[in-house]
Amino acid sequence: MMLVILVACSSFLVTLINHIFTPGSTDMGGIIFAGMVISEPEIVKEVLRNSGKAFPKANPSFYAFHGESLQNMTPAVIASVETMLEKWKGQEGNENEVFGEFRLLTSEVISRTAFGSSYLEGEKIFDMLNKLSIIVGRNIFSTGIPFINKFWKSADFLESEKLAKEMQECVMKVVKKREGKVLSGEAESFGNDFPGLHVKAYRDSNEEKKLSWEELVDECKTFYFTGEETVNSLLAWIVLLLAIHGDWLERARREVIRIFGNQNPHPEGMAKLKTMTMIINETLRLYGPPNGLVREVQLGKLVLPANIDLLVPNIALHHDPNLWGDDVHLFKPERFAEGIAKATKCNAAAYIPFGLGPRSCVGMTFATTETKIALSMILQRYTITLFPAYVHSPIPVITLQPQHGIQIILASLHNNA
Ligand code: HEM
Ligand SMILES: *[C@@H]1O[C@H](CO)[C@@H](O)[C@H](O)[C@H]1NC(C)=O
Repeated sequence: MMLVILVACSSFLVTLINHIFTPGSTDMGGIIFAGMVISEPEIVKEVLRNSGKAFPKANPSFYAFHGESLQNMTPAVIASVETMLEKWKGQEGNENEVFGEFRLLTSEVISRTAFGSSYLEGEKIFDMLNKLSIIVGRNIFSTGIPFINKFWKSADFLESEKLAKEMQECVMKVVKKREGKVLSGEAESFGNDFPGLHVKAYRDSNEEKKLSWEELVDECKTFYFTGEETVNSLLAWIVLLLAIHGDWLERARREVIRIFGNQNPHPEGMAKLKTMTMIINETLRLYGPPNGLVREVQLGKLVLPANIDLLVPNIALHHDPNLWGDDVHLFKPERFAEGIAKATKCNAAAYIPFGLGPRSCVGMTFATTETKIALSMILQRYTITLFPAYVHSPIPVITLQPQHGIQIILASLHNNA
């Protein structure tokens, strides 16, 4: 069965994601998209695996995720989690809003992994992106009146244009500085970290591989935005679910202690965190951050009119009782005990938290590594219960977010923590 919806406000929402990533297209008012929602797994597979010309792999594709730049992320994540835990000291028994805490954590992680020594400049870019995402969030449900908006530019529109420009300048400064150090002989190479790989690509003598200035800034925005907003929500929803399901909290903790003791997480141990992976997967099923995937493709014999977006609502697939059974809405990590094929009864399109096919998430390893490190370090120190006044209200603001935050109470496991 295919469900067709025209004038799709939901599609508008997802398209906004592309908007943020597209340089010069910060016009957020007054666009009405026509869209079509697809929730039949077989067709979903066809749409997402369509590697043809209609929706090719992003090119040049995300240098940052391929080079050695991410191999050294573990110490950066640990350092950032330590900063957060330091703040938590003495907060035992109090109301603790973790969604905001995790936003700070994920921005710090991105800044440290992306900019290393230029960490503070990275922070500035973040600030601007955060402001931009607030503006986008504010305008998500206002489709506006197309013709009027053409002439009337809202304050938000002007502000977002200004922010986009400042951000561009900031990225340029970091890149130019790195370039300058090599040209002046102060440094021997551009380096293999995020700015280094980008300067290299920007200066590539091979015209085909060369990264244009717009592409470079665009990639930075993508890295920042996706790196922060996704892991941030995922961590918050996991903590909520563990606060409610104390049995899983204890199982996860026993595993962490068995593998790491009270030491900081290390890469070899991370691969062994099976219970935690089940919990992460079940959380991504119930509260997976992206609300839907957008495609413009030719679908079988069906030729779609121009400007029609296809929306694959991964959330609907993850909550389909026909695919998952009558307990589809319950938190049951044991679904994943024997791996993903068993959980989905070999239906590859039933579970697509990181997408599928050529455009699937390049940040998956980054995201799961960060999540595992943060959770391990929290579970080594604290037990978590839900704050009684918590109000459950997940809303789609580009990713699925807790509208009123997530308030928990921490209890320290060690007297001296
Ligand atoms: C829990 C965390 C995350 C989830 C659930 C997630 C999910 C997704 C999904 C579903 C897509 C495919 C979108 C589509 O098909 O239209 C995607 C693409 C992408 N993700 Fe993630 N993501 C996460 C974290 C991250 C992180 C941390 C980064 C980077 C630091 C990242 C970078 C990207 C990029 C660059 C793409 C575009 C790939 C392409 O178009 O070729 N993601 N992600
Ligand atoms: C969890 O999901 C990922 C992909 O989303 C998969 O690679 C992994 O095998 C899954 N793990 C379990 C225990 O289901």
